[in-house]
Amino acid sequence: MRKIIIAIDGYSACGKSSTAKRVAAALNYGYVDTGAMYRAVTLYFMEHYIDLTNPKSVSKALGEISITFHHNDSTGQNETYLNGLNVEERIREMEISQRVSEVAAIKAVREAMVKQQQKMGKSKGVVMDGRDIGSVVFPNAELKIFMNADFDVRAERRQKELFDKDNLVDLDEVKENLRKRDKIDTTRAESPLIRPVDSVEVDTTHMFLEEQVDHIVQLATGEK
Ligand code: C5P
Repeated sequence: MRKIIIAIDGYSACGKSSTAKRVAAALNYGYVDTGAMYRAVTLYFMEHYIDLTNPKSVSKALGEISITFHHNDSTGQNETYLNGLNVEERIREMEISQRVSEVAAIKAVREAMVKQQQKMGKSKGVVMDGRDIGSVVFPNAELKIFMNADFDVRAERRQKELFDKDNLVDLDEVKENLRKRDKIDTTRAESPLIRPVDSVEVDTTHMFLEEQVDHIVQLATGEK
């Protein structure tokens, strides 16, 4: 069957990554979590005290960063590596969530990430999730999904996800973080989160993960 690019965009914590991973597995496609890439850049910038307002430091730091994904056979998941080190757990912590949107709003950061993402998808057969995949990274993607969910449901899901990784975070703190990221992600000058006109909207508020996956797989295979 002809391989395509599936772009999944949407707000934070509405189920994009969990859905995208499973859609990729069902279709035997690759999966790229572009949020993980921005999170890894944020971690590097934090660890190296990079001044975000200094373009020279930002561009020098970007030249020092290598982000790769490797499959972990025991968990069956792809994990994120920053300069050869597994940072999968670290980049999901609240400290990174608090700062990532500011870093992701920097033009040079976006240009560097988009270039890599376009390389990763050039042979097609890939599911990529993020904020600008259907609008900027792959404007010609054959299938574009825009995911959304009720704000409170998103916050509860994110809190549970953190709890499952032994991170106890207060619901109000999770809500505050989602609000802040939504605001920066939708209002930044560089490729803000928008709903591409040719995307299919999937509201996951009342959907189970399996339903979301089946729906997108059916759209991809032309059964819908
Ligand atoms: O997907 P996730 O919530 O892990 O993404 C973390 C942050 O990275 C987002 O809040 C957003 O600021 C940024 N991001 C982005 N463009 C993407 C993916 C993520 O700006 N394609």
